[in-house]
Amino acid sequence: MNSGLPVDEALAPLRAALGTRRAAVLQAPPGAGKSTVVPLALLEEPWARGKRLIMLEPRRLAARAIAQRMAQTLGESIGRTVGYRMRFDTRISRDTRIEVVTEGVLTRLLQSDPALEGVAAVIFDEFHERSLQADLGVALALDAREHLTPGLRLLVMSATLDGATVARLLGDAPLVTATGRLFAVQTRYAGKGLPVLPDAPSATRAQGSPETLVAQLVSRALREEHGDVLVFLPGGREIRRVQAWLNTAQLGSGVRILPLFGDLPSEEQDAALAPAVRGVRKVVLATNIAETSLTIAGVRVVVDSGLVRRACFDPVTGMSRLETQRISRASADQRQGRAGRLAAGVCYRAWSEGAQSTLAAFTAPEIADADLAPLALELASWGARDAGALRWLDAPPAAQLGSARDLLARLGALDDAGSITAHGRELARVAAHPRLAHMLLRARALGQLPLAAQLAALLSERDLLRPSAGARDADIRARLEAPTRVAMRACCWRSPTRTASAASARAGRAASFSPTAAARRSRSPRGWRGRSSSWLWTWTIASATRASCSPRPWSDAS
Ligand SMILES: Nc1ncnc2c1ncn2[C@@H]1O[C@H](COP(=O)(O)OP(=O)(O)OP(=O)(O)O)[C@@H](O)[C@H]1O
Ligand SMILES: [Mg+2]
Repeated sequence: MNSGLPVDEALAPLRAALGTRRAAVLQAPPGAGKSTVVPLALLEEPWARGKRLIMLEPRRLAARAIAQRMAQTLGESIGRTVGYRMRFDTRISRDTRIEVVTEGVLTRLLQSDPALEGVAAVIFDEFHERSLQADLGVALALDAREHLTPGLRLLVMSATLDGATVARLLGDAPLVTATGRLFAVQTRYAGKGLPVLPDAPSATRAQGSPETLVAQLVSRALREEHGDVLVFLPGGREIRRVQAWLNTAQLGSGVRILPLFGDLPSEEQDAALAPAVRGVRKVVLATNIAETSLTIAGVRVVVDSGLVRRACFDPVTGMSRLETQRISRASADQRQGRAGRLAAGVCYRAWSEGAQSTLAAFTAPEIADADLAPLALELASWGARDAGALRWLDAPPAAQLGSARDLLARLGALDDAGSITAHGRELARVAAHPRLAHMLLRARALGQLPLAAQLAALLSERDLLRPSAGARDADIRARLEAPTRVAMRACCWRSPTRTASAASARAGRAASFSPTAAARRSRSPRGWRGRSSSWLWTWTIASATRASCSPRPWSDAS
């Protein structure tokens, strides 16, 4: 197989490494062909015959797009040889040989069948993102290969990772590289100093707010360059502000602004990825959902704010909160790579060249500062009472893991010896944080499952109600009543797509639940679409909870 892409030079050594050493690390620049060429190139290897390849992608959007591209390469529809599996959306058949899966799915596959029957290889794509689930996936897969399934192949891929360290973790696996780039990307540093954080006091800012700076850069990029523009911003709030700024900037009728973030329904995400109509230039305002793996038709210019929003766990409150942080150099390279996939491109960075070297080299692994309760439950389900029994790139911090285990013991998920209990196994089957899973199961026993499902949705999402004129109503009842009146009417046991869009359409029309006119104006129907999906999620959990679990004695922990 010859794709004509730079990764071709790596295919022979990669096949050799996987054939004889059963593991490899592949490092190749963005756009080289790792995600869309390598799985297809491995399909006919002797060790893969009659078996499936599982490829882990960190993001749903990328998983769908990559599976689609591979199916297209084979001239097939998705769900034949190539398919994908993710929550609420699975396209596979009995003929499927390559499954692109998102993170929770891989953990489930491993937990339900640790020997991974019928699986020839697990490929960890975009491993530099270092999500907790990817780190856990590698640890469990290494353990499975050592004790249950010695023939399993493991491949870790990324453009920007510390390849030698990962190779050591995989038992001194060969590190295979491809150096060629398909198209060059020119970098233009356009800021002063480091990327501006939103909470930096304006007096100390050498420039305007991050949003103003980015909007001005977009305007400049449209003047200086041709082609579509992809803009990286930390979150939905900044996307809305930049969109408002650009709407008043008189960019002309030939420019179309399209947001792209995780809460949008898949049709709107697909619209941002689709080629613009002739004569129209697209400006896609994205979060880091578009940072890796994606090829967006028409894009040859990237504008990067240098910021990302990440969830950080606060051990004092026991809750995670979102923090806006500066990206790493590895992230900046990934973002820049989106400009050079179909033609030579340009990347504008909202920071100075001097500041570039002061950014962290790599993104900090999520395992270092995440809430470890879900991980502790997964480890207990796996039968690993001690995290030290598994191999990690960065082991979970002992103190945080200890607190997580204490919480699980209080929930009745672990016994005195630290082993998982029957209740713990039930918690692990519910796709929610152990605290919420416990609430759902306890509520089911008390006949209050629908209420608990609503509370779980509220606690998992951003606040539904925005403060009006500085006042914030902290009453949980207001939040319970808002969606009950609108979205929930539409959410009862219909197909996920129809349900989510019907709920959002109703929510958009009927703003009657808004506590104030100001809040009504600030709450967009678009925001509701994503949220109604998460309401749907809790209903699905509630339904699964109702169906799959039999009543058991609980601990009395809250
Ligand atoms: N949907 C698509 N439409 C058009 N071309 C595409 C598409 N997907 C991939 N390509 C082409 O294939 C090349 C390889 O894409 P692929 O996603 O496999 O690269 P990659 O090495 O995984 O990059 P990254 O590190 O950025 O994820 C792209 O540079 C692009 O030229
Ligand atoms: Mg890729």
